[in-house]
Amino acid sequence: MIKTKKTGRYANIIPMAELNTKEKRLNPFPIYDQLRQSTPVRYDESRSCWDVFRYEDVHRILKDPATFSSKRGMDIRKRENILIMDPPRHTQMRGLVNKAFTPKVVADLAPHITSITNALLDAVLDHGKMDIVSDLAVPLPVIVIAELLGVPTEDRQLFKEWSDILVKGPDENTEEAFNQVVAENAQASEELSAYFARIVEQRRSEPKDDLISLLLAAEIEGQKLNDEEVIAFSILLLAAGNETTTNLIANAVRRLTEDQALQRQLKENPDLIPSFIEEVLRFYPPVQAIGRVATRDVEIGGMQIKAGDQVISWVASANRDEAKFKDPGSFVVDRKPNPHLAFGFGIHFCLGAPLARLEGQIALRTILERLQDIQFVTGSELSYIQSPFVYGVKQYPITFQAI
Ligand code: HEM
Repeated sequence: MIKTKKTGRYANIIPMAELNTKEKRLNPFPIYDQLRQSTPVRYDESRSCWDVFRYEDVHRILKDPATFSSKRGMDIRKRENILIMDPPRHTQMRGLVNKAFTPKVVADLAPHITSITNALLDAVLDHGKMDIVSDLAVPLPVIVIAELLGVPTEDRQLFKEWSDILVKGPDENTEEAFNQVVAENAQASEELSAYFARIVEQRRSEPKDDLISLLLAAEIEGQKLNDEEVIAFSILLLAAGNETTTNLIANAVRRLTEDQALQRQLKENPDLIPSFIEEVLRFYPPVQAIGRVATRDVEIGGMQIKAGDQVISWVASANRDEAKFKDPGSFVVDRKPNPHLAFGFGIHFCLGAPLARLEGQIALRTILERLQDIQFVTGSELSYIQSPFVYGVKQYPITFQAI
């Protein structure tokens, strides 16, 4: 694990000084545009890390895991999981769960995801108003991932609380704020581990048809995974699957309310929903930045990066790079091609991307089938998710007419 040289803190959980107001945290994109123009690759003394803003550079970093290692300091949760592993272990471990997330396996979940979405909407439809975050965008992915893992969906409030803490970062660059987040993280991690330890023990004696049982039965070169490894994987899936997909759904509905013509267009032509979701991923990426550590001295964008330096790749900036996307500041519902980096790139490309896309598409399709005239409740206070890399809002109240 690599801490920053100067402060001893983990650079990639400290917010950039430029994002120092609520408005900027809610809409950081103009700042990324400025930084991409002025300092496309820069060393930030206050966070002791490099920031990389251009598409070409971000892409190059993500596709070169030998030079840019994932064994970074993000994981203050201590456990090893595939997100922070390098080959060859990464390749082996990823191979194990790949089968559970192929597009075919995931596509078969569609009817079930549709019925969960419908049930969640049934509960609020008569009211004519809802909070898209807490009423749909939070519970849908939590229920789906809990069912896949084989853990009780009734515990979903707990999962939400734990995974919120796991993606949380300090709100300011001070030792006190940093230590507080580290302590909260450590506690959530302990609780989650204890929770999953119980389930792992149960599944060892009585396997079921779920992901935890599959992981327990799996072997790498004749060797089974130990309990610690299965627990770490489960925690990663729960956290990675929740926080991100929630924000994809919420950001997509936010976009619908920001552009009523777009809302009508999608209603009339639901075939546009898959490309709409891709454009939401480009425009409002739920994961803004991805961290790596340089394994050797290397030049990026004319700057000399040293072995051991932390490098933060700003996906949210790369996705709006004018050198890659035509008219990047415009939301183009049928943009093609759309090579956004919202799910990363290369060997760590998001394992859950087929599932996230499916959930996003089904959520939007069902919303547009059952709701019309969807409007943001003007004047409502918006607050951002306190995380240095997850982008979204904590609540998003809407009004609508039920169809
Ligand atoms: C990796 C984004 C949903 C599981 C990643 C990475 C990104 C990402 C950017 C690459 C990180 C890196 O290179 O270091 C997203 C977004 C999602 C989403 C934007 C939703 C819109 C999900 C879901 C799951 C999931 C639903 C699981 C059920 C994972 C896992 C990895 C990963 C296990 C690690 C893969 C590896 O290291 O090989 N995700 N994710 N994600 N994601 Fe997702």
